[in-house]
Amino acid sequence: MDNENPLYRERPVSFVRRGSRLQGRRQQLWDDYADRFVIDVPRDVGATSIDPGFRLDPEQTFGRDAPLVIEIGTGLGEAIAAGAAAHPEKNFLGIEVYRPGIASLLGHAAQANVSNVRAVLANAPDVLETMLPASSVAEAWMFFPDPWHKKRHHKRRLVQPYFVDLVARVLRPGGTWRLATDWQEYAEHMLDVTDASEHFTNPNDGYAQRFDGRTLTSFEKKAGQAGRAIFDIELTRR
Ligand SMILES: C[S@@+](CC[C@H](N)C(=O)[O-])C[C@H]1O[C@@H](n2cnc3c(N)ncnc32)[C@H](O)[C@@H]1O
Repeated sequence: MDNENPLYRERPVSFVRRGSRLQGRRQQLWDDYADRFVIDVPRDVGATSIDPGFRLDPEQTFGRDAPLVIEIGTGLGEAIAAGAAAHPEKNFLGIEVYRPGIASLLGHAAQANVSNVRAVLANAPDVLETMLPASSVAEAWMFFPDPWHKKRHHKRRLVQPYFVDLVARVLRPGGTWRLATDWQEYAEHMLDVTDASEHFTNPNDGYAQRFDGRTLTSFEKKAGQAGRAIFDIELTRR
């Protein structure tokens, strides 16, 4: 199940499969905490796919009905674990294709001693297209999605019209989509694509203030050290 043959997919994926092997501490974290925090999903073809017949019941998964926040591309899981600790009244679902990243998320969640976070190892479009019920999400976070700098790779970017429709599908009316990037040209693209969508309004008519619920991740720290500006975008589901 470790192959991710792009030929199985209609669209190019937004990631390059990196090693999914866990070692040392990360393997230990997986052994200790995956049962508690990782949602085991039936696959279709490919290790990060989801059987299109599978539906998540968030109330059953979290053991309660509460506003659901999802994070697309959790990286090492710092932001979602901090969010879950700061907001025990909400449920948090992290979506990530990189297994060692999810192992790291487990460590942060265990350290924060939270019970309101879950993670799924999966390609985000699959989660949005079929796994999550329509209008089930209060807030979607997407911080520093891979910018795919080169023009010939732009088709691999996640933020594209079809993906905007998928986020709109899962967000409830009035729900919020928060994005951040350190790549100006991608930020402009995000504004263009979402402005053109009938599903979203932009209350700031452009960039937003830094979302104060966004933890400074190691990724953002590096961008700051390299002198790159950060662009925040906040959108409201119509
Ligand atoms: C540049 S990192 C940013 C991580 C984190 N959000 C942060 O701010 O530190 C982008 C992350 O998105 C993940 N990713 C890329 N494409 C994805 C997809 N289609 N589904 C889920 N995760 C994806 C990558 O594996 C990587 O961990």
